[in-house]
Amino acid sequence: MTPSPAEIERMLADPDPGAAARLYAEADRVRRESVGDDVFLRGLVELSNHCRRRCAYCGIHAGRRVERYRLSREDALAAASRAAAFGYGSVVLQAGEDPGLERGWIADLVKAIKGETGQAVTLSLGERERGDYEAWRLAGADRYLLRFETSDPGLFRRIHPSLPGEAPGNRMELLGVLRGLGYEVGSGAMVGIPGQTWASLAGDVALFRELDLDMIGIGPYLPHPDSDLALYPGRFPPAPAGLQVPNDEETACRTVALARLVQPFANIPATTALALIDRENGRRHGLARGANVVMPNLTPERHRRLYEIYPAKSLSIETAEAVNARLSGQLAELGRTIGSGRGDSRNFTNKK
Ligand code: 5AD
Repeated sequence: MTPSPAEIERMLADPDPGAAARLYAEADRVRRESVGDDVFLRGLVELSNHCRRRCAYCGIHAGRRVERYRLSREDALAAASRAAAFGYGSVVLQAGEDPGLERGWIADLVKAIKGETGQAVTLSLGERERGDYEAWRLAGADRYLLRFETSDPGLFRRIHPSLPGEAPGNRMELLGVLRGLGYEVGSGAMVGIPGQTWASLAGDVALFRELDLDMIGIGPYLPHPDSDLALYPGRFPPAPAGLQVPNDEETACRTVALARLVQPFANIPATTALALIDRENGRRHGLARGANVVMPNLTPERHRRLYEIYPAKSLSIETAEAVNARLSGQLAELGRTIGSGRGDSRNFTNKK
């Protein structure tokens, strides 16, 4: 189904709870028919909180004075082995945009993980040179995540100041490069950024389809008290009354549901941000309204505290064992099963 941007906008903003209930039921049905009841688990490993960018929403941007870390190769490998021991078919290596994570170092790490565990490896290391993406793909990396965050070019530029001497990043172009290199490609957006309108959020959903994404990550924008958005609100005016998208659980869930309708075969996680904005229901609702992936955090605890892209992220610190136990209960209640194997995106494998 490919609803028009106007229909998407109406479904996002419809105040009728009955309409939302129908959207959720339809998304859940499409999810079951397209990707089944398996929920795939990915071990998230946050390799480094160094970052050269100054994204206005982010708690670890370059201008912030926070303790910085890079995981050692040993720590990164140990985290990947734990993911394998838990039966997770893949790991996600994520970091700030950190030039200190050198091309060769990442390539070796990817090779080592693939050699030792056979897991699928997903990278999420920001905007890098084409040569980096090539080298990592050759080293065996399977997937790449690079959210476009918002399809509104003006809003994108406002919240992503370009670096001195550099042109503004062109994530559309980079996503094309990644696709050309044979990666499974993931992107996504934040919901409720100050200045984001319903029409622009509808544009984000339409873009998921246009980019034919294999993976789609969606979460509510969570204000970080030390981010530029919080410190200089005057620079980031909200959209006029009635047009501003709220950063709430309901709107994030509707966006997830619509993502499932426009890209039935994609892998769509119930994200940490969604789980955090409503600790009671966020993850469960995500899974019941279109999502089929969960990404438990396997970053060593002393580093996880420092990867605070949004506040209270570290409150989610729980041992991986505790997370697994709670997840199994939650999934059983939802009538879902834990997927085994790599959990490749069917949107990707269907084309092979
Ligand atoms: N609130 C919500 N999501 C955030 N991200 C980064 N900072 C925040 C925030 N303050 C999201 C971005 C990024 C992903 C890793 O986390 O979408 O791509």
